[in-house]
Amino acid sequence: MHAFFSPHSAQTQSIQSVFSLVLIIAAVIFLIVAAGVCYSIVRFRSRRPIPDAAAPEPRQIFGSRNLEILWTVVPIAIVTGLFVVTVRAMVFIDAPQDSPGSPDIVITGHQWWWEARYPNGVLTTWDIHIPASHRLRARIESGDVIHDFWAPELARKMDAIPGRWGYIWLEADSPGIYAGTCSEFCGAEHAWMRFRVIAQSQLDFDAWMVQQAAPSPAPTGLAAEGAPLFQTKKCADCHTVAATAPSSEKGPSLAHLARHETLGGGIALNTPANVTLWLTDPQAAKPGNRMPSTPLSTDETRAILAYLESLK
Ligand code: CUA
Repeated sequence: MHAFFSPHSAQTQSIQSVFSLVLIIAAVIFLIVAAGVCYSIVRFRSRRPIPDAAAPEPRQIFGSRNLEILWTVVPIAIVTGLFVVTVRAMVFIDAPQDSPGSPDIVITGHQWWWEARYPNGVLTTWDIHIPASHRLRARIESGDVIHDFWAPELARKMDAIPGRWGYIWLEADSPGIYAGTCSEFCGAEHAWMRFRVIAQSQLDFDAWMVQQAAPSPAPTGLAAEGAPLFQTKKCADCHTVAATAPSSEKGPSLAHLARHETLGGGIALNTPANVTLWLTDPQAAKPGNRMPSTPLSTDETRAILAYLESLK
């Protein structure tokens, strides 16, 4: 609810205006009708004891042209007004759906995480960085089933449908972290298919992008022992660590994982304890996810953890 009432883009401000208008009109109508019902219950109640077979039928009233006109014209006027206001808001918030030109960012839903790709090929997962005060044309796609991309403070909802593209304006009026979630039931972990939109000043965003596009420093020490284990223990079969790798249908990119604040589709903080839980018992970390359990010794777990923490 909080998010819904704190719009942070011109698009969501427009949505909120329509919502507030409908709410106020509906509340006024409710109060008028409820007051009329209450007044009638009290004013016109039978004052005789019940049951009273001798009670005459109350006076029946038929036809009042003025009232008929009133309660036909007024609702039509209200509905027409709301229709016009709603269509104007819809036209205002909708991004062009089929105009040429490449999108500023491509966001793909997977069971159960989000990934975002930038025009330079850089890939990130569930922490989606954008420059604040810039309106990005975002293309929403799906890698498997139907999802729905929704950052309530920033943009309208958009379904992610396999084989189809939908476009939204993605914009934040000020730097900040804005929560988002999948809004279409998509399987066991639908409710834990979170993401965050991290809006930064242009300078900070550019700096983030430079870092994100560059390879992580070569692992040393324990991390260097973990790097080959990441391959031999099959982690690399599903997870890439390259910043501009093609997306995988199997598992999210772990490129620069150490710079992520969250883990596992945005559901947990990126702490050594939580990474260890993912390594040793992925189904306990996020029940139903597609990561199989891999038997690891304590030393192997520590080495892979060190390697993942070295992915800065
Ligand atoms: Cu993805 Cu619900």
